[in-house]
Amino acid sequence: MSWAPIRKTGSPATPPPLMPDWRGARSGFSWDEARGDLAGLLGGGLNIGFETVDRHVAEGKGESVALRWLRKDGSPPQDTTYATLKQETDRFVGLLVSLGIQRGERVFSLLGRTPQLHVSLLGSVKAGAVFCPLFTAFGPEPVETRLSLGEARVLITTRILYDRKVAPIRDGLPALEHVLLVDGGPSPPPGTRDLTAALEAVEHRPTIAATSPDDPALLHFTSGTTGRPKGALHTHEAVVAHRTTGRLVLDLRPGDVFWCTADPGWVTGISYGVIAPLACGATVVIDEAEFDAERWCRILQEQEVAVWYTAPTAIRMLMRVDEGAFSAWDFSKLRHLASVGEPLNPEAVVWSARIFGHPFHDTWWQTETGAIMIANYRAHDVHPGAMGRPVPGITATVLVHEDDGIREADPDEEGELALRTPWPSLFRAYIGEPERYAEKFVEDWYLTGDLARRDGDGLFWFLGRADDVIKSAGHLISPFEVESVLLEHPLVAEAGVIGKPDETVGETVKAFVTLHPGHEADDTLKRQIIGHARKRLGAAIAPREIDFSKTLPKTRSGKIMRRLLKARELGLEEGDTSTLEDDT
Ligand code: WT7
Repeated sequence: MSWAPIRKTGSPATPPPLMPDWRGARSGFSWDEARGDLAGLLGGGLNIGFETVDRHVAEGKGESVALRWLRKDGSPPQDTTYATLKQETDRFVGLLVSLGIQRGERVFSLLGRTPQLHVSLLGSVKAGAVFCPLFTAFGPEPVETRLSLGEARVLITTRILYDRKVAPIRDGLPALEHVLLVDGGPSPPPGTRDLTAALEAVEHRPTIAATSPDDPALLHFTSGTTGRPKGALHTHEAVVAHRTTGRLVLDLRPGDVFWCTADPGWVTGISYGVIAPLACGATVVIDEAEFDAERWCRILQEQEVAVWYTAPTAIRMLMRVDEGAFSAWDFSKLRHLASVGEPLNPEAVVWSARIFGHPFHDTWWQTETGAIMIANYRAHDVHPGAMGRPVPGITATVLVHEDDGIREADPDEEGELALRTPWPSLFRAYIGEPERYAEKFVEDWYLTGDLARRDGDGLFWFLGRADDVIKSAGHLISPFEVESVLLEHPLVAEAGVIGKPDETVGETVKAFVTLHPGHEADDTLKRQIIGHARKRLGAAIAPREIDFSKTLPKTRSGKIMRRLLKARELGLEEGDTSTLEDDT
């Protein structure tokens, strides 16, 4: 079914879009010029912390609100001005200096949606450290892997998260010297300190490390199909792309109330939950609570949200609510709606135009790209189902891989989505894995691993992933990481994990396992294995479903063919099975 474009005609939009014309903006665009729009440090340096906080204070905007925190318990919002954020981040710099943290060393967070995360992140990058957020729904296994691969020296977390996820694995993390608990109180557990007390004991340090644009600032773990998680490293220069896309794609300007619903344990929650809006001088809404349709409507109305960035899973959950319930709320302050992370159904675009008076604008990017690369724009018609067109400064294409190399696809021909290098927020390394990094580039193209097509009008359409990585509720999950934990169970001999299509969250995790000889498959064992996986991996990644199997389809070299498991699960054609082992 094809969908009519949603026309942006009628009364002139107020205020007019910051980018009134995509073609014009593109042809006149240069990253050098965009860089000139930032304050920079004396001597040609650049620091994300300065651009997002100190700059606004220096420009006399210190009294405007940077963060508005909405507590779970519904208590009055807690505002932090840019001036206060500067003081708090300065003190955090003082703390890291007192702990002896050197430039480039890693500070990790395992925190929910709380301003302490913003302070830790911005303070860390001001100090020249590299900041890495972790997702609180991770179990001890993914937490340990990431803290260890990232060589964490400092971790900021809470008491409960520490007790459940870190204390049991702390012995295996010799590099982790300092654990600071935001709620440590007067008697924090052994080996930890209370963050507030530690901050009170140090001086403000109103200085910023003299970082260069190419110095590392952020580390985000992402998932592949094989091997360990990949730590994508970004530099201070990324803020050029954050600010540019914040303005041109999200239409953010100083004083705008902006709400990005993404969890700060993932890249969206950092790039667009913290850096882009603050670099644009906006007010960031932080909601501590989990999804709740009525609460979300209340936030949009009461906080007078102007720009809202969320994800298809959340939109689909809102679409399940009776439409009449929305008419009780006032969404008149909303100016722009954008979505990211998974395919946005055309139905959701049309629905949102009806409910909120504006369609959701799909945007596409990845952990590795650091910032939005392809988008639908406020000034232009929206084609439901299309990801949009490349942002100014970005060249995107579809590549077809052939025996003798690559070629650009014809219009509407399927291939791999690729982006011409470089751009400021392009990741600079998978830490410790130069070969894996190099594999992501061919000639001057960065290969995204997504399948797409470009139509005759230059619109990009998402077709799927080229690999077996699972996308659930917008989060990438590595089947390998899940399989490894299943194999820890004493009765499991082999495991193959796939993403099973789901109407709401996109995909759920499903595992196929074989047992060691002599063991019977039954529901008790199934629950036990799922329980083991949930305990180790956390509820967000553990398989929801397990099927026992006598054998699993394997290649002759012994690799489990997840693709075949998926095709069989869905009753689809099995495709090319020429490498399948004979005895399955
Ligand atoms: C993968 C990247 C985007 C930042 C947060 C997730 C999928 C992303 C879209 C979209 C269809 C999308 C892709 C991409 N994806 N945006 N608009 N339509 N798919 O970053 O965890 O690195 O995931 O998310 O498959 O490669 P990530």
